[in-house]
Amino acid sequence: MATLEGKTALVTGASRGIGRAIAERLAADGALVAVNYARDEAAAKEVVAAITTAGGRAFAVQARLGTEGDVDTLFAALDPGLREHGAAREIDILVNNAGVGAAITIEDVTPALYDEVFAVNTRATFFTTQRALSRLRDGGRIINITTGATRIAFPEAIAYAMTKGAIDTFTLALAQHLGPRGITVNNVAPGIIDTDMNADWLRGNADAEAHAASRAALGRVGRPDDVAAAVAFLASADGRWVTGTTIDATGGSHL
Ligand SMILES: NC(=O)c1ccc[n+]([C@@H]2O[C@H](COP(=O)([O-])OP(=O)(O)OC[C@H]3O[C@@H](n4cnc5c(N)ncnc54)[C@H](OP(=O)(O)O)[C@@H]3O)[C@@H](O)[C@H]2O)c1
Repeated sequence: MATLEGKTALVTGASRGIGRAIAERLAADGALVAVNYARDEAAAKEVVAAITTAGGRAFAVQARLGTEGDVDTLFAALDPGLREHGAAREIDILVNNAGVGAAITIEDVTPALYDEVFAVNTRATFFTTQRALSRLRDGGRIINITTGATRIAFPEAIAYAMTKGAIDTFTLALAQHLGPRGITVNNVAPGIIDTDMNADWLRGNADAEAHAASRAALGRVGRPDDVAAAVAFLASADGRWVTGTTIDATGGSHL
């Protein structure tokens, strides 16, 4: 039996990149997975099709997080998908992965950009989790995707790094709060991963890739499935005694 058989997971921002890899991995491990996306319905449907073809179970859920009514939209769209798959309304695993980058130094950060990254990366994570609490089963998992840039100074994306620093604090406090219910709360902090978020400067640029690889002790750029593996550990029964902390999934960047 797969380790997550009978469990339900909600992964935000799962139509591409790291979120897609997490959705595919949790489904391969046996969970029914709700694949949230913001704009790209075709990509989300492709993720669901890939999971289904591989023998897993998933459905797509549209909600643009960080906008007015986002959490209402997300949870309203979740229920029909759960019913269609004969699943109860409770969930076991929430992965707050949806996020936007902002590779800008302090001089050029505008109030609008600051508000946008905080709305998606921090505010939506907070209120999605708040809404999930009443339907998260005891013994469940909350896993937030943060960044190595809260450990490693990264002024090139200062506001972005701050959005994730707030999540570090959120995770610490929430793990204490939810401990009595046996719910663990943790972060997975990726380093540089080959996704669309880094496509502009990384893909097809051998020098940039070599430089990025050189930052990691393990000597290469990370892949989405590297991050998904750490998430799968936390989601599994083997992760039961780990809470309130961060798994550094940077390949040992800037040790
Ligand atoms: N890539 C890295 O190097 C790296 C490093 C450290 C941390 N991270 C973190 O890892 C997470 C995933 O990053 P990624 O590189 O996989 O990003 P990505 O390739 O840009 O994919 C972003 C995903 O999030 C969704 N999304 C974006 N804005 C959303 C919103 N407002 N509401 C709901 N979904 C939204 C997108 O859906 P649509 O396709 O519908 O737009 C897409 O599925 C983020 O939290 C990011 O901060 C990434």
